[in-house]
Parts: sequence; structure tokens; C-alpha cells
Amino acid sequence: MVFVPTRGDHTLRFGPDIPNTPFQPGTVPASWYTDPERFDLERRYVLNPNWQMMFRAEQIPNTGDHYVWEGQGETVVFTRRKDGSIAGFHNICQHRGSRIVRNSGCGARRFTCPFHDWVYDFDGQVIGIPDREDFDQTKVEGLRSPSVEVGEWGGWVWAVLDGPGVAPPLLDWLGAEIIEDLGAYQMENMFLKEKVVWDVDVNWKVIMDAFNEFYHAPALHHISPQDVKDGREMRIFEFDHHAMMIVPLKGALPKLKENPDHQSVAICHYTIFPSGVFNNNPEHLQLFRPVPISHNKTRFETWELWYKSDDEAYLDRTERHWEHLKIVVGEDVWTWEDIAATSRSMYYKENVYNDREGKIPFFHNQVNDLIVEGQRRDAAGK
Ligand code: FES
Ligand SMILES: [Fe+2]
Repeated sequence: MVFVPTRGDHTLRFGPDIPNTPFQPGTVPASWYTDPERFDLERRYVLNPNWQMMFRAEQIPNTGDHYVWEGQGETVVFTRRKDGSIAGFHNICQHRGSRIVRNSGCGARRFTCPFHDWVYDFDGQVIGIPDREDFDQTKVEGLRSPSVEVGEWGGWVWAVLDGPGVAPPLLDWLGAEIIEDLGAYQMENMFLKEKVVWDVDVNWKVIMDAFNEFYHAPALHHISPQDVKDGREMRIFEFDHHAMMIVPLKGALPKLKENPDHQSVAICHYTIFPSGVFNNNPEHLQLFRPVPISHNKTRFETWELWYKSDDEAYLDRTERHWEHLKIVVGEDVWTWEDIAATSRSMYYKENVYNDREGKIPFFHNQVNDLIVEGQRRDAAGK
């Protein structure tokens, strides 16, 4: 038996009476992708203070198992505590700024900085200092590396790098619609089949854009004329910061018209603000996760999740589909070389989007609003 996600009695999202969110055509200035100062504003006001997916909870199953996450200029260590919860702290030695833990690993009891052997517990508290008496005691008393806020949902470990209490609770951030619709896949019961990583020379938002529209599919992925036609009947929705689209390809459209059980029939896409896009096929799914490195460098991760099953037919067809999808994603990656080639041009001014690409300016405006709001707050000293 293989689990099949289903709408059940959840919200109907396909049918003549279901209106799309009316996304508009729009533009985005080139500098939002190419300006290093803009990237620093995004780190401060968008990426650091909000929830992001970091890794799978199953990757640190036992006490002391730890995961070192690095991206957007930060290094963080997450550790499974004895009570099963997960702790996270900035991986920065409070002595002289060395990284404390270099690699992910298993079964740690504490962490020791390699430079002068300062010792940390799972929460980042300094619990041992060689020759402690030689320090100014007021400087080392109660010293700790800053915490990050950690949450779990859908089998993913989420974090707010700015620490506890900055973002709303994780479930509030996700919102009822995402919890209901994406939750139907029961990702907590899936397992990580593979993670594929590409290092690319583009801004992280180029990757968010690439998976936020269907307009490129005929040119780049050479899909069939029928799929081009059916693709125009996709449904798109905006949920607060997040968004969703239902893409009825490969014969899904007539099935959906008969029985609008979108999760079990169509490809469903979920943009989880600010840095993840799920591409959910009924039997397996991908998370596309750009991890920003700098304004023009990104680690692009594709996480492939499968349902647990010993059904040979399921495993076989899912393997074949996943191998095919890796080629398709490789086509997307290939275009980013051409985006990288123009990124320093003085003549690259702006991107122009049609209404069916409307999720893209919607996304960028969310980013911009947070920057403007954050700057205003800082200027007011709040
Ligand atoms: S820098 Fe970590 S112990 Fe000195
Ligand atoms: Fe694509």
C-alpha cells in the first residue's frame, strides 16, 4: 500500500466557481537581484527574522545528533536533546569567533571549540573554559552563543535565526491554508530519498522565480502542446505571504474536472515565504530551496521525499519519475548561467512579468514590504 494524499473534506480548489487570486502583471527592478546592499537588507529584514526550512528532522534521530547549517552568512548548529526536542544556536565561539562545530555528526555530549577548547552545551551555553581564572570574570559569567528559534512541522526542522520571540509562532506563520493543503501530504511520514545540490552564480530570488511560474515550461522543458493548453487552466492562490498553484498536466485536467481532488491527481505547488517551493506530485515531492550565500551566489538544494513503501511498482515508477525530474530541474539550472551573464551589465534594468507570472512580483513585493517596514521601525527606534 502506498499512501495517496487526498483533499478529503478540505477546501475545494478547482472548479468553475473557484476564483483564482487575481495576480497582476508587474515589474521588478534589476537591482533587487544584483545589489549587494540589497542582499544585506534582505538578510536583516526578511531572512533572519522569519521561519525557514533548514533540514529534515529524521537527519538527527538520536540524542546528541547534530546538523550544521550554513547559509546567508550564518553558521548554526542544531542538536537533538535528550527529551527529543531540538536546540539550535549560532555556531560562533564566544572567545575569539571560531566556528565551534565544523561538521554534522552523531551522538555528541557537548561541543568543544577546536581553537582553545572552550566547551558548549546543546543550547550554546559556555560550560567550560580552560584557565577560566585568567579571564575578567564579568566577561565570561553566563556567557552563551545566541539561540535560534527552532520548530518542527511536516517532518522539517524550521528556524528563525534572529532567535525566539521575533517571528510569530510557526503554525501562525504557515497559516491555516498551507497547514490544511500542504499538510494533506503528511510529509512527516515521508523520508528523504535524495538531496541534490547545485552551486549557482545567481541571486537566491532568481531561483524562487524559476519555480513560481509555468510560463517557461513550453520553451525550456519542451512540454507537449496538450500540456501547454491544460497548463493555462492552472489555479493560483495567495495565502498571506505564501502562495499555491495547481498545475493540471499529463491528463490531470479531465480527472480534476470529474473529481476535483487536486492533491491526488495534479501537481500542486506551494511557495512558502521566504525561501522554499514545494513541487508535489501525488506520489512523491520536491522541495526547491535556495540557500543564499551572497547577493550573486546561491546553494540551490532540491530535496526529494518519498512515501515509505515496499510496493515494488511504486518504487520503480517513482524512481523513474525522479530521474526524469532531475533532468528537468537541470534545464532550469542551465538557464541561470545566462541570468548570471547579464547580472553585472549596466543595461539590465528591470524584469517584466505577465499576469500568469504574477506570483513573482507578488513575492518580491512581500520582500520589499518587509524591508521598508523594518527600516521604518529601525528609524523610529522601535
Ligand atoms: S576561539 Fe573558540 S576557544 Fe578560542
Ligand atoms: Fe522549470
